[in-house]
Parts: sequence; structure tokens; C-alpha cells
Amino acid sequence: MKHLLSIEKLSAVEIERILADAAVMKRERGHHAFQPLKGQTWALIFSKSSTRTRVSFEVGVSELGGRPMFLSAGDIQMGRGEPIKDTARVMGRMVHGAVFRTFAQADVEEFAAYAKIPTINALTDEEHPCQILADLQTIHEKLGSAAGKVVTFIGDGACNVASSWIFAAAKLGFELRIAAPKKFQPDAKLLKRAGGKVICTDDLKAATGDADVLYTDVWVSMGKEAESADRLAALNGFQINQSVVKLAKKNALVMHCLPAYRGKEIDEKTFEANAATIFDQAENRLHVQKAVLRWVVS
Ligand code: CP
Ligand code: NVA
Repeated sequence: MKHLLSIEKLSAVEIERILADAAVMKRERGHHAFQPLKGQTWALIFSKSSTRTRVSFEVGVSELGGRPMFLSAGDIQMGRGEPIKDTARVMGRMVHGAVFRTFAQADVEEFAAYAKIPTINALTDEEHPCQILADLQTIHEKLGSAAGKVVTFIGDGACNVASSWIFAAAKLGFELRIAAPKKFQPDAKLLKRAGGKVICTDDLKAATGDADVLYTDVWVSMGKEAESADRLAALNGFQINQSVVKLAKKNALVMHCLPAYRGKEIDEKTFEANAATIFDQAENRLHVQKAVLRWVVS
């Protein structure tokens, strides 16, 4: 049984295989003959808000012949305290696969273990594997293989998206620089677990020089709203804007996983100047997740 629970648990070969299939999904959208989810129902269980992940999985499951069933955690008994392992065992007897967005990574792992159906992490506090796979597809389309490139992540270097980037760096052989205030740099234990070339610094200029990709994410992730004021104060100065872009390579990509907060992690002008790349990233969620769905049922 295959799951997509994290980038950490994927091998480089599996990532390459998913990316290759994502390119096929994109090229053949609307006229591919395969229907790997034919006759299947997939539960999409979301404990947090979502636009891209929800829409891309609903469309993706349908395009592969399956039926998506969206379940907001607040509307099912899980939201009233039914244990994850009981919810999982019910799902496992009724549906063929699950896409789960929640808080603790351990909850997605527990769900997969008890449901015994292919399970996909649609974002936890610790990882956002589907996002990073779509980002890698986007980089591949525009710059070729990520290997040997320099990716600079600017902002909350301790968030889920940054963590998934850290695990991807070692597996795919690119240099990852994280520009963040000390308080928002990744945990040393996580860096050690991941290996690879990851440089953490609060020197934004040093991190940006010669970068192939500048990447950012929101300063206040879902679930961290109570820390908003502290985060906005500490992260002020770690914005992607025109002066930061000038330090990177001439044709560097500016990427954002979305949703974007203009005037915070990125300024309006830089966002709009790079909208083509940023919305390609968003579109690629659909193609890469179709490849993930086909992979987990193969
Ligand atoms: N990037 C991303 O996962 O967006 P949503 O929260 O809208 O799904
Ligand atoms: N780090 C963000 C990603 C949103 C897609 C969050 O968890 O809210």
C-alpha cells in the first residue's frame, strides 16, 4: 500500500517518477485514456481552509474516473472529538482513498495506519508535500532539473512549506538557503535528519545573491493566528520585493505557494510581475496530484 505522507518519506526515484507522470498529465489533460480511480470514492477530509488543494483534488479525482467526497472536519464527528483512528477505520471500510489536511503530522500518519487505504497529506503543520511537488514541476518546466540550482526561501523558515523544501533539497541535490530571523529558522534536529546542503541565515542579502529561485510563503500559517502580531514584527524585512529580486540571478523565478498577503511576504509589484510563474505553480497542483493519485493506486 502506498501513501504520500511527506517529502521526507519519498525517495528521489519516486519524486522523479511522479514529476515525469505530472508532465504527461499536463500534456494529455482532457484526452488521456487511463482511469485509475474508476469506480472509486475518495474522501477529502479538511480540518483547515483551502482553495487550491481542495479544488485540485476534487477535479483531479474526477478526471481520473473517481468520485471525490469533500468532508469538512467540522461537519463530521471528528470535529466533535471522535478519535482519528476511529474515523480512519470507518473510512477504510467505505472509501478507496483519502486526502487529509490537518494540524499534526502524526494524525495523518495515524489515519493512514488505521484506514489501510492510500492516504495523501494535503498539508499538516509539519509538511506540505503536494505543494513542493508542484513547485518542483514548475521549476523543471522553466529552468530544467532542480539539481545544482540555488533555491532561496525567504520568510517563515520553520513552516510546513519550508520543511518540505528542506527534505527535497537533499533528495534532489539543490542548494537551499533559508533567509529568516533566528526565531523562524528551522529546527536543528530537522536539518540534521534531512541532510543535504541547507544554509540558514538572517542575512537576506547573502542568501539571495545568485539565487535561481526566490520563494516565499505566508508569515502567519493556519493555526498560528494567535501569534500574528509577533510574527509580523519579527518577519518585517524578510519580504520579496524589487530590491531583493535585483540581488538574485537575472532570470530568477519568484515563487509563492499562495495565498499571498501583499505588503507582507511579497509586495504587489513583485507579485504581479511574477504572476505567470505563481499561477503556473497553482495550476501544477492539479497535474502533479493526479500523478500522485495514479502512483498511490499503482
Ligand atoms: N497552496 C495551498 O495549499 O493553497 P490552499 O490552502 O488554498 O489549498
Ligand atoms: N504555510 C501555510 C501554507 C498555506 C498553503 C499554512 O500552513 O497556512
